Amino acid sequence: MHPPLLNVADYARAARAKLPKEVYDYYEGGALDEITLRENTAGWEGLKLYYRVLAGVGAREMKTTMLGQSISMPIAVAPTAFHKLACAEGEIATARAAKAARTLFILSSLSNTAMEPALAEAASPRWFQLYIYKDRGITADLVKRAEAAGAEAIVLTVDAPGLGTRERDMRNRFTLPEGLCVENLSPLGKGRMPEVRGSGLAAYVRDNFKSDLSFEDLDWLCGCSRLPIVVKGVCRSDDGRRVAEHGAKAIVVSNHGGRQLDTAPATCEVLPHIVEAVDDRCEIYVDGGIRRGSDALKAIALGARAVLVGRPILWGLTVAGQEGVLSVLEILRRELDEAMLLCGSTNLKEINRSLLSP
Ligand code: GLV
Repeated sequence: MHPPLLNVADYARAARAKLPKEVYDYYEGGALDEITLRENTAGWEGLKLYYRVLAGVGAREMKTTMLGQSISMPIAVAPTAFHKLACAEGEIATARAAKAARTLFILSSLSNTAMEPALAEAASPRWFQLYIYKDRGITADLVKRAEAAGAEAIVLTVDAPGLGTRERDMRNRFTLPEGLCVENLSPLGKGRMPEVRGSGLAAYVRDNFKSDLSFEDLDWLCGCSRLPIVVKGVCRSDDGRRVAEHGAKAIVVSNHGGRQLDTAPATCEVLPHIVEAVDDRCEIYVDGGIRRGSDALKAIALGARAVLVGRPILWGLTVAGQEGVLSVLEILRRELDEAMLLCGSTNLKEINRSLLSP
């Protein structure tokens, strides 16, 4: 008899026991010394909750919207790459779980399932994450296909003009195994990840992603798609303000889960400054290190509209496919609900900064 899996850490341990080392390392790892990776989680853990008592909290309400689209809780599925490394159904299982949890699914452009079948399995809201390729034609093609496949927003990742060095992947010579590819890019001749001496993904990114990414690319994308553009990977208030001025409809405060620039600040540190600078010009979400429902509550207290979770979804997917992802989402929902009850918050509007200071 296996002990019950009660929380995200239990799922992480179970996933580690199940995955080949190179896959676990790819999912779990961060850039260089993994300082940002650790500080993302430690940051949320370190924030104290100054709960309110005698608040008369009845049934809690955590329904909200992202870009006007309804979700059952402020916890959404972050875009993460290569879900078939976790289980055979890959992104199809993840999309179905997000649908069952009635939350947002964001498909990574680096998926092992093409966007058409993957997005077809998700309900609204479903968004598509985009990297800008050196070849604008390729990028434009991805955007048009995403629109046709039912994506309702494009999430442009801006923190990866190159791939942060992940030494675990270099040591493991991480690449996709025989039979798996960057499926969305296959018809465009960019589906294969090379086998090289170091990380195959790093080589793929070097060969294909636009390294001189600029605000001009954001302007181009805003002009190229009828969908709202969400900019993911912002760490500074001046960038947040500028991104909003250039037409982004939402921002994800993110350091790519500590996988890009090591020693970038934890997202909980920068979030309140970006919220203040952007000042309601667009919606703000945050990711990086959310491992408990109470972390989501803290993020909302700091001004985020919702949080995205990445690795916890991959652990659920590894352990039990669609059911595992759903379990992880339901654990986080339950934990957020309990944190709201114990903090004295009936709804999301009542969760504010006062809960983080005496
Ligand atoms: C892909 O986006 C990665 O961070 O590995």
